Amino acid sequence: MNLTLNIWRQAHQDAAGAMHRYHVTDISEDMSFLEMLDVLNEDLNVKGEDPVAFDHDCREGICGSCDLMIDGQAHGPEVTTTCQLHMRSFTDGQEITIEPWRANAFPVIKDLIVDRSAFDRIIQAGGYVSANTGSAPEANSVPAPRDKAMRAFNVATCIGCGACVAACPNGSASLFLGAKITHLGELPQGQPERYTRVVDMVAQHDHEGFGGCTNIGECSSACPKEIPLDVISQLNADLRTALRQGR
Ligand code: SF4
Ligand code: FES
Repeated sequence: MNLTLNIWRQAHQDAAGAMHRYHVTDISEDMSFLEMLDVLNEDLNVKGEDPVAFDHDCREGICGSCDLMIDGQAHGPEVTTTCQLHMRSFTDGQEITIEPWRANAFPVIKDLIVDRSAFDRIIQAGGYVSANTGSAPEANSVPAPRDKAMRAFNVATCIGCGACVAACPNGSASLFLGAKITHLGELPQGQPERYTRVVDMVAQHDHEGFGGCTNIGECSSACPKEIPLDVISQLNADLRTALRQGR
């Protein structure tokens, strides 16, 4: 496949950015989207030009680093991470536009790389449980109902990629936040801090500059882990309970 790429280039957070046009040739449909960008960067290196900066780590759909907006869709046309997106989803001769996540709370570091440390600070604000030190407890000493354990497990698959924020017209991180609140709130181990957790994490979310949820649902559609929208209902229910308790 031969492709034309329109890529956002920006030297640093305060620099003016612009779209740049590139051509790549001999791209195999079996390559991942990131491998296609590797081909581009090898070519730019040979020419002595600055390679395009983009984030990645595991390339296995686990770490959440590979955050690219592809033709206006977070992670591109398939429900998966950019590293698991393959070039067979595109056609020979296609023109593809590649941008970083666009959200005030995710400032651009360089080109396609954004700073997602706001998510880390939300987790630090309350995304943990207290545990006694000492030897590991007996595995079945804290029974968890199967339906709650399965729901906690399903939403714990959130990889913190930020696609939900990038897809949301309000730049809200409510789906991410709801996934964390639900994951910990469904399990017995998460109960002691349940209502202080939701207040602290929502406060940090708002402090970081993420927007509010207006129930549009783009977040869940863009999520590569298919986190359901009802985690936001659980977030709001826990927040209402916490506020009633005067937390
Ligand atoms: S909820 Fe989905 S889109 Fe949002 S950070 Fe988690 S995995 Fe990514
Ligand atoms: S590089 Fe880790 S999820 Fe894509």
